[in-house]
Amino acid sequence: MLKNKNIVLIGFMGVGKGSVAREVIKHSDYMTIDTDDIIESMQNRKIKDIFAEDGESYFRKLESDVAKWLESSVKNTLISTGGGFYKQENLKKIGTIVLLDSPFEKIIKRIKHHPNALKKLKKRPLLKDLKKAQELYNERRPEYLKIADIVIDVTKKSAVECSKELLKKVKTHA
Ligand code: S3P
Repeated sequence: MLKNKNIVLIGFMGVGKGSVAREVIKHSDYMTIDTDDIIESMQNRKIKDIFAEDGESYFRKLESDVAKWLESSVKNTLISTGGGFYKQENLKKIGTIVLLDSPFEKIIKRIKHHPNALKKLKKRPLLKDLKKAQELYNERRPEYLKIADIVIDVTKKSAVECSKELLKKVKTHA
């Protein structure tokens, strides 16, 4: 299958996709975009408002519009995605899929220790209820692992370390 030479970063909310993406672009020629940012600018409103005003299924429809555009028009780019974007049918056609993986407790700990913790929790409607978020994690993790071409365990690693590992693994990935 012809790929667009993109890297598609997937993984659960708060695992650090954005932080790793920002490091990767410092150490490579990639540019980076984020599917949530694209949706927010398309809609001129925040993800949490899209969820509140139009519901999750409308948000998923917007994700699928973005997925189609990524496949047809984006090349040589590091694409950071929202935690549910991995379900897009054409994901494999967009690029090499890299999963950032970590246990649920570590992800929550990472968010809570962040200086902007409250903001990070508030902007993610699916993290409001931690019990439900844990269930979602349990449901998704096997699916993330199944679709990923490359897996990076980010636990106890800095974003810089993860970005170096990512670039090394992408290079050797056929
Ligand atoms: C979601 C993850 C969020 C955002 C939306 C839904 C999910 O992105 O797309 O709130 O379904 O896991 P992050 O993974 O960047 O938090």
